[in-house]
Amino acid sequence: MKLTIIGSGYVGLTTGACFAEIGHHVMCVDNNQKKIDSLLAGKIPIYEPGLEPIVRKNVVSKRLQFTTSTSQGVDHGEVIFIAVPTPPQDDGSVDLSFIEKVAREIAVCLDSYRVIVDKSTVPVKTGDRVSQTIRRYARPGVEFDVVSNPEFLREGSAVDDLMHPDRIVIGGNSDRALAVMQKVYEPFVAPVLITDINSAELIKHAANSFLALKISYINAISELCEIAGADVEKVAEGIGMDKRIGRSFLNAGLGYGGSCFPKDIAAFIAIADQLGKPFNLLKEVQNINARQFSRFLDSIREALWLFKEKKIAVWGLSFKPNTDDVRSSVAVNIVEALVKDGADVTVYDPKAMEKFKELPLAASVKLAESPLEAARGAEALIIATEWPEFAAIDLTELRDAMHTPLIFDGRNLLDPSAALAYGFQYRGIGRGTLPEAT
Ligand code: UDX
Repeated sequence: MKLTIIGSGYVGLTTGACFAEIGHHVMCVDNNQKKIDSLLAGKIPIYEPGLEPIVRKNVVSKRLQFTTSTSQGVDHGEVIFIAVPTPPQDDGSVDLSFIEKVAREIAVCLDSYRVIVDKSTVPVKTGDRVSQTIRRYARPGVEFDVVSNPEFLREGSAVDDLMHPDRIVIGGNSDRALAVMQKVYEPFVAPVLITDINSAELIKHAANSFLALKISYINAISELCEIAGADVEKVAEGIGMDKRIGRSFLNAGLGYGGSCFPKDIAAFIAIADQLGKPFNLLKEVQNINARQFSRFLDSIREALWLFKEKKIAVWGLSFKPNTDDVRSSVAVNIVEALVKDGADVTVYDPKAMEKFKELPLAASVKLAESPLEAARGAEALIIATEWPEFAAIDLTELRDAMHTPLIFDGRNLLDPSAALAYGFQYRGIGRGTLPEAT
């Protein structure tokens, strides 16, 4: 089928590439000429495992095209996906101006039936607004349908998530559009859930909020573990073995970050407020997430006393492993807090150094080329992102490199008994059964 994706950011680009890989003819549209030029040259603006070869291959086979022209895109695709950013506003609500603009742009180009799909994460009832907008700006009598088809991909495993989704959610109010959408997804082996538009839009915010809730739940338990003398890893294992609960998203740590959870939880709270039903449970999810961060900093302060002039190494900058994305990264927030209090910080990340260098904060820290280089002479090491290469580090070399063998493991990455056996003082999250770091 001929498909068009408007917006070639994380979701748009990976979705377009995967649709092309599965056999569709895809045109990706973006208003950023520089981005389109580099994509045409086979350069991917993000680090996402497996994405680059798929883009290259499908550009060569001409199943994947790029353009800056919306009218070319509307002309090409029988289905037009909107995958533009929906950034947060100061009050947490979603800025829908990009969606609205694209709806108008599509409308004026429409000359025959198209299915227009909201792929971006949007508040419930946005589909109605998109429909009204297109109707208002399109020439009279032109036929179209609007569908909601939320995307559940995770950064770092986006290609796999797209090619092998847990489910495909399609929300639409017209049989004609739903039939077209089922054809789009025919090559994928996954359950398809058909709903009305409002329900599909709600599913996305409800799903992300539930995952964040699971994280905050285990983080709240981690605090209890520290006070009571229990190990949150064992507790997570024990409750996760219940099939009704499941072990995933019960990893205690510094809390959730990234470009989705903080924004989507705030948006869902704002949506509930607008609907007149304050969602206090989610407000507590946010509070726990913030507390996890401050508790961690407090525990470092307790051990080091003042940060000023202390040499501190930070491993990890991306908001999670297998991505170079540093947006709303808790790791970056940690670095920022240390720098603010005058610490002498050296950072290392396997993939996110380049993206980190674009932040003004980078000028205030030293950038190392390896984990060991970052740790050299350090009075404390903070593990802020659970990259597998950190877990594989030689603990003897690490201990010898550091001034003081003191580890704050914000992601419970290391085996505490191994760290203790190698002479480290070790402080994880929710590991109340270990000797305290001093
Ligand atoms: C998330 C959703 O998982 C995905 O379905 C949606 O489409 C977009 O938002 P993503 O932001 O890429 O994906 O990352 P995810 O793997 O969900 O992690 C989000 C944050 O939660 C990270 O900061 C991660 O470190 C943290 N996290 C995750 C935990 O702290 N503990 C966990 O157990 C899991």
